[in-house]
Amino acid sequence: MYAQLVKTDSDRVRGLDEMSAEERAFQERIDRGEKIEPKEWMPEGYRKTLIRQIGQHAHSEIVGQLPEGNWITRAPTLERKAILLAKVQDEAGHGLYLYCAAETLGVSRDELIELLHAGKMKYSSIFNYPTLTWADIGAVGWLVDGAAIMNQVPLQRTSFGPYSRAMIRICKEESFHQRQGYDIMMKMAKGSPAQKAMAQDALNRFWYPALMMFGPSDKDSVHSAQSMAWKIKINTNDELRQKFVDQTVPQAHYLGLTVPDPDLKWNEEKGGYDFSEPDWSEFFDVIAGNGPCNTERLNARVKAWEDGRWFREALVAHADKRAAARIAAE
Ligand code: 3HC
Repeated sequence: MYAQLVKTDSDRVRGLDEMSAEERAFQERIDRGEKIEPKEWMPEGYRKTLIRQIGQHAHSEIVGQLPEGNWITRAPTLERKAILLAKVQDEAGHGLYLYCAAETLGVSRDELIELLHAGKMKYSSIFNYPTLTWADIGAVGWLVDGAAIMNQVPLQRTSFGPYSRAMIRICKEESFHQRQGYDIMMKMAKGSPAQKAMAQDALNRFWYPALMMFGPSDKDSVHSAQSMAWKIKINTNDELRQKFVDQTVPQAHYLGLTVPDPDLKWNEEKGGYDFSEPDWSEFFDVIAGNGPCNTERLNARVKAWEDGRWFREALVAHADKRAAARIAAE
C-alpha cells in the first residue's frame, strides 16, 4: 500500500518534449500559475508527491502536539496554561485540514494514519526531541513555529488548490504560535539569572534541530527539483534555511542570547549570515527512527488511536442507526 500511495518512482525532471500531450498541457497550466483542483487530471507522480508531503505535514501537526501537551499541566500560570492549551488545539485543527486536503487526492485519513503507525510515513524530525524545561516551550514556539511559518508562507502559493487554501489559515495561526513562544523567551531571558540560563539552554538544544526542519541540503534533497517544477514547493530547502537564520539571529540578539554557532557571521556581500550546517548524520538518523523520542512519540500516537477506537466505532454505529431509521421512515 505504501508504494501505491506515496512512493514516487523517479524524481528526474523531464523536459516538455519527453511528456505526453496530457502531461505537457498540465505543466503549461502550472507554468501559467493556475491552481490544480482535486477532480482535474494530474500526473500520478504529482498526486503521489502531494499525498506524501501533505500527509507528512498532517502527521507533523498531530505528533507535534505531544512535546507541548507534555507541559499543559505544568505551565507556570493559568494564563500560560490557557494559551498553551489553545495552541495545542490549533495544531489538531491544522492536522485535520491537512488530512482533508490529502483526502481530496483519493486517500483516506485512516490509510495515512495506518502508514504513520507502521513507520512507513514520516513526520517532522523536530518532534523527536524532548521538551525538558518550560523554556523549551518558548523555544519551540519561537524557533519551531518560526521555521514552520518560514516554510509554509510560500506554500500558500503552492499549485494544489486545497493545500494552498489550508495553508492560508494555518499560517495565520502559526504566527500567533510563534509570538507566544517569543513572549515566553522574553520573559525568561529578562528574568532571573537561572531563568536566563534556562532560555539559553533551550536555544542551545533547539537551534540545530530547528535548522534541520527545512530538510537536507539542496544537494541531498531528492524531491526538490521535481516538486519545484510542479510548484508544489516554491523554494529550495537551503533558501528557506538561510531566510530563517537571517530572521532569527537578530531576535536572539534582542533577547540577549547567544546562537550556539561559533562560525555565525554576517556576510555583507551576500546580505545574510554565514552559519554552520547541522550535523546531517544526526538528521538522517532521526528520520530513520533513531532520534531521542521516536519510539515514545509513535507509541503515544498508536495508544491514542487504540484508546479512541470505541468512540469511532460508536459514532459509526450511531450514524448507521440513524440512516436505517431514515430509510425505514421513507
Ligand atoms: N523531518 C522528517 N523528514 C524530512 C524532513 C524533516 N525535517 N525534511 C526532509 N525529510 C524527508 C523527506 O520527506 C524525504 O523523505 P521521503 O522521500 O521518504 O518522503 C527526504 O527527507 C528527502 O528530503 P527532500 O528535501 O527531498 O523532501 P521534500 O522535497 O519533501 O522537502 C520539506 C522536505 C521541506 C519538509 C517539504 O516536505 C515540505 O515543505 N513539507 C511541508 C511542510 C511540513 O511538513 N512541515 C512540517 C513542519 S512541523 C509543523 O508544521 C507543525 C507546526 O505546528 C510547528
